[in-house]
Amino acid sequence: MASEQDYETLAGVGPGTAMGRLIREYWIPACGSAELAADAPPLRLMLLGEKLIAFRDSAGRVGIIDHRCPHRGASLFFGRNEEGGLRCVYHGWKYDVTGQCLEMPNVPPQHAFADKVKARAYRAVERAGVVYAYMGERREAPPLPAIEPLLLPEAETRITWAQRECHWLQALEGDIDTSHVAFLHDGLVKPEDYPPDAIQRYVVANRNPDIHVADTEWGTMYAGHWPAGPGNAYYRLAHFIFPFWTMIPNGPFQRNVVTRAWVPMDDTHTMFLAVAWKAGTTPIVTRKQNLPAADAAAPAQFDYLPNTTDWLGRWRLSANATNDYGIDREAQRQRSFTGIEGIHLQDQAVTESMGPIVDRGFENLAISDLMVTRTRRRLLNAARALAETGAKPPIVDDPGICLAAHSGNFVAPARLTWREAYAAELRNSANPTGALRLPALAAE
Ligand code: FES
Ligand SMILES: [Fe+2]
Repeated sequence: MASEQDYETLAGVGPGTAMGRLIREYWIPACGSAELAADAPPLRLMLLGEKLIAFRDSAGRVGIIDHRCPHRGASLFFGRNEEGGLRCVYHGWKYDVTGQCLEMPNVPPQHAFADKVKARAYRAVERAGVVYAYMGERREAPPLPAIEPLLLPEAETRITWAQRECHWLQALEGDIDTSHVAFLHDGLVKPEDYPPDAIQRYVVANRNPDIHVADTEWGTMYAGHWPAGPGNAYYRLAHFIFPFWTMIPNGPFQRNVVTRAWVPMDDTHTMFLAVAWKAGTTPIVTRKQNLPAADAAAPAQFDYLPNTTDWLGRWRLSANATNDYGIDREAQRQRSFTGIEGIHLQDQAVTESMGPIVDRGFENLAISDLMVTRTRRRLLNAARALAETGAKPPIVDDPGICLAAHSGNFVAPARLTWREAYAAELRNSANPTGALRLPALAAE
């Protein structure tokens, strides 16, 4: 049983909190490479409750530094990004991407001590269109995350950012909660709405699946399974990967190369990042009726408000709590369980509706929530072990371990155990990076 103290531990991401410390052990997706142009105005970046500034210097290097100028604290957001550094507009002190002060031009040269002043800076690296920050304390940062789609060249991926206004784990829990699909997304879909050969029909033929859950070296995983005709089982199989990644089963297993990060901006705002292998993306299965609820690519759901310079002003969706996510009650009566268009928006609506941080003491969890409870426990144990004994966080030093993680849906002979079925599918995966490893799973 989880306690009030557990809930508090799960909630905090700021410096010094147990969960914040755990997350800071890993590289964190900070923003898109395309959000930073050389010598362009600096970007306000809220990450793990810290107010930071990201900028790209004249040579193309990215800096992520505390927004406060170490002279007297003026915000470097107002700074001039010029010729190899960011210059504070208050007294002209200038900093490079490592935070090193380069000039203090308001001080007579014989009194200047630029070499002794450094803005707090985090290491930043770019890979495949994503800027990662390392906010931990190790002298040598660990390797970058090695989740399968993150290793693909940028041109082969589709990258999506979207802000969600709630706690990061509350948002993430939607990704590892398989039984909601047959309600929130497909609640009015009937098996006969699918073509006979569409395996997704099993999810709506039986809306209370059995779920196997296991701890893994990289986090947790589940296999939801459904009867799928004589001698067969249909699986939806997904992962949680430390510290805030998921791999979800939104397509046929062997070509479904996707991952999603739920990056805490602060305790109540989350930046969602999805990276998917373009060539593996399958068209949405056509159903007899045009069900708005079913369309993952519904155009409205990633319609953004213009970005603002606010700390929380990036990648906000135009359908949001202020307009009830565009709910159409007529559609809800006729053809859509929610009346809200698009899978992402449906998830956004329900998880934000739980409040900025859900009151977990209020919940009544059922067997269908097994993956959620297992994942909370895995996170809590890792955060406590780090805080109490300094134990290494899972996969931080060998992120390649999670190359045995892959998600998707498939039909397999019912005589196989779910682990055997998973291993067989993994062996037959498209494996576009060539990096996949066979799984080594902990006991259930
Ligand atoms: S406060 Fe930045 S230069 Fe003085
Ligand atoms: Fe969902």
